[in-house]
Amino acid sequence: MRYFQGCGTLLLLVCVAGLGCIQAVTLEVREGNSTCIKAEVSAFFSITYNASSGARSVQVPLPNTTRVDAISSTCGTGGGLPGLVATFGPGHALGLSFSRNGSFYSVDNLTLQYNLSDTSIFPDANSSDVVTVVSASVGIRAAINTTYRCVSATSVAVGAQVVTLSDMRLQAYMPGDDLSPAETTCAADQASTVAPITTQTPSTPPPEPSTPEQGVYSVRNLNGTVCFLAQMGLQLNFSYVSQSQNKTIQEIFNLTPNLTSSSGSCEASRATLVLVQDRTTTLGFTFSVNSTSNKFYLSAINLSADWPDMTVPVSAGSTDLDYLRTTLGRSYKCNMEQSLPVQPGFSLNTFRLQVQAFNVTTNQFATAEECQMDQDQMLIPIIVGAALAGLVLIVLVAYLIGRKRSHAGYQTI
Ligand SMILES: *[C@@H]1O[C@H](CO)[C@@H](O)[C@H](O)[C@H]1NC(C)=O
Ligand SMILES: *[C@@H]1O[C@H](CO)[C@@H](O)[C@H](O)[C@H]1NC(C)=O
Ligand SMILES: *[C@@H]1O[C@H](CO)[C@@H](O)[C@H](O)[C@H]1NC(C)=O
Ligand SMILES: *[C@@H]1O[C@H](CO)[C@@H](O)[C@H](O)[C@H]1NC(C)=O
Ligand SMILES: *[C@@H]1O[C@H](CO)[C@@H](O)[C@H](O)[C@H]1NC(C)=O
Ligand SMILES: *[C@@H]1O[C@H](CO)[C@@H](O)[C@H](O)[C@H]1NC(C)=O
Ligand SMILES: *[C@@H]1O[C@H](CO)[C@@H](O)[C@H](O)[C@H]1NC(C)=O
Ligand SMILES: *[C@@H]1O[C@H](CO)[C@@H](O)[C@H](O)[C@H]1NC(C)=O
Ligand SMILES: *[C@@H]1O[C@H](CO)[C@@H](O)[C@H](O)[C@H]1NC(C)=O
Ligand SMILES: *[C@@H]1O[C@H](CO)[C@@H](O)[C@H](O)[C@H]1NC(C)=O
Ligand SMILES: *[C@@H]1O[C@H](CO)[C@@H](O)[C@H](O)[C@H]1NC(C)=O
Ligand SMILES: *[C@@H]1O[C@H](CO)[C@@H](O)[C@H](O)[C@H]1NC(C)=O
Repeated sequence: MRYFQGCGTLLLLVCVAGLGCIQAVTLEVREGNSTCIKAEVSAFFSITYNASSGARSVQVPLPNTTRVDAISSTCGTGGGLPGLVATFGPGHALGLSFSRNGSFYSVDNLTLQYNLSDTSIFPDANSSDVVTVVSASVGIRAAINTTYRCVSATSVAVGAQVVTLSDMRLQAYMPGDDLSPAETTCAADQASTVAPITTQTPSTPPPEPSTPEQGVYSVRNLNGTVCFLAQMGLQLNFSYVSQSQNKTIQEIFNLTPNLTSSSGSCEASRATLVLVQDRTTTLGFTFSVNSTSNKFYLSAINLSADWPDMTVPVSAGSTDLDYLRTTLGRSYKCNMEQSLPVQPGFSLNTFRLQVQAFNVTTNQFATAEECQMDQDQMLIPIIVGAALAGLVLIVLVAYLIGRKRSHAGYQTI
């Protein structure tokens, strides 16, 4: 445990979609001897910025080195509103400001500050500004003297960026030094435990979804060499609550390659590819290496979507997947459609796919390992060919036997 003014920081280990396990941080604002704001939360930021190669998108977790900034944070005792400002890295910060009325307190604003000069997070940025974005409505509200609890991921649009909070317990205007045992639970947590997903009962069969176009994506190292190659058509099969229809609907959404920007990172045992379409859809892939089996595999998929018909922006994903398993030094290929279940209500369909997340040399795919479906598909012409060859052989043998018999016949006459 590390302390800031006697405040504990890192606490739990939590897994957030697409980022693997990141730590929940505990942040505390004190004045005199008492605590007025306390938050335990995991967070990550999806930030799009301009790089020399075009727009890029990165996902930045709130690291466990995050500290409360004692000067900017306040309990609001001298007038003004209480606020928590947490800083990390060179000039990055997350701020929450609160207000209350008689019976409720709420987060009024969420502020995100990021420093584009930090090349470890924003490689290749064509600006070195410190950018501050503020969101107006956050949707965090709880009864006074209760802890706001939301385990589900909550995505908040902050300017053009997205902040995703999860595994959150927080309280402001605290009567004591610890979080109140009484809790106000967010709607998403209630929905996930209570409300069953109501699926559409279509009167007319839905139109056959079209096949998505194949996109070609790559990720480069800082030195400019390509370290990750992918070509694939992608189709999301995703359920969400439709505002216009006031119910959960299942949407089939094809990614359009020429509206999609890609970015990512390559490390020795982890590689990520992040695709962003129209700033409304962010799809992240994480590939990992299993050094025991000498294979790489797709270990995580995460999605954040803020579509016009959504009541709130939605995040979904899973970090314990094991798909597209391939020997290191090879690429994985699957021309046939494949459906990859991610979580209930979310699967990803891939078409004409080939990926290589590690050991890419000379900007080209290495020898491919084909999926079983492709192999089965290739087996059909082989079986048909073999059957035809067999048939020809039978006819030939029958002909030869027939000729021999008739030859023998002539001799007996
Ligand atoms: C903090 O607590 C100590 C001992 O409990 C007390 O002596 C001190 O006056 C308190 N300070 C404030 C600002 O309340
Ligand atoms: C990127 O650059 C374009 C054109 O210069 C500008 O319109 C856009 O606002 C910039 N985006 C960001 C995130 O700075
Ligand atoms: C920054 O990037 C955007 C988009 O990539 C580009 O339009 C703009 O001209 C760039 N600005 C500078 C100062 O390089
Ligand atoms: C932004 O990052 C750069 C490089 O890490 C650093 O020199 C600078 O002080 C940072 N700016 C702020 C406001 O912290
Ligand atoms: C406090 O705010 C909540 C929601 O914002 C509202 O429902 C409630 O009536 C308000 N209470 C008072 C006393 O204003
Ligand atoms: C919070 O947002 C409201 C409405 O957008 C604005 O009036 C207020 O100044 C903001 N407060 C802070 C601390 O940014
Ligand atoms: C909250 O708790 C404090 C201290 O226990 C108490 O004085 C106050 O009346 C409570 N407020 C509400 C709205 O329950
Ligand atoms: C580029 O960087 C990667 C790792 O960061 C390294 O493996 C590769 O050899 C480098 N390529 C060149 C041309 O420097
Ligand atoms: C989408 O998912 C639903 C529910 O899992 C499934 O019934 C449906 O066949 C899927 N559609 C496509 C096109 O993948
Ligand atoms: C949405 O549906 C729920 C229950 O199905 C109903 O209680 C609510 O009034 C509906 N809201 C709107 C705006 O139609
Ligand atoms: C994207 O591709 C489609 C089909 O190839 C084309 O109709 C459309 O004009 C393209 N859009 C852009 C912005 O290039
Ligand atoms: C790595 O592969 C080995 C052997 O196939 C397997 O037993 C192990 O569970 C795998 N580890 C992970 C983290 O997938």
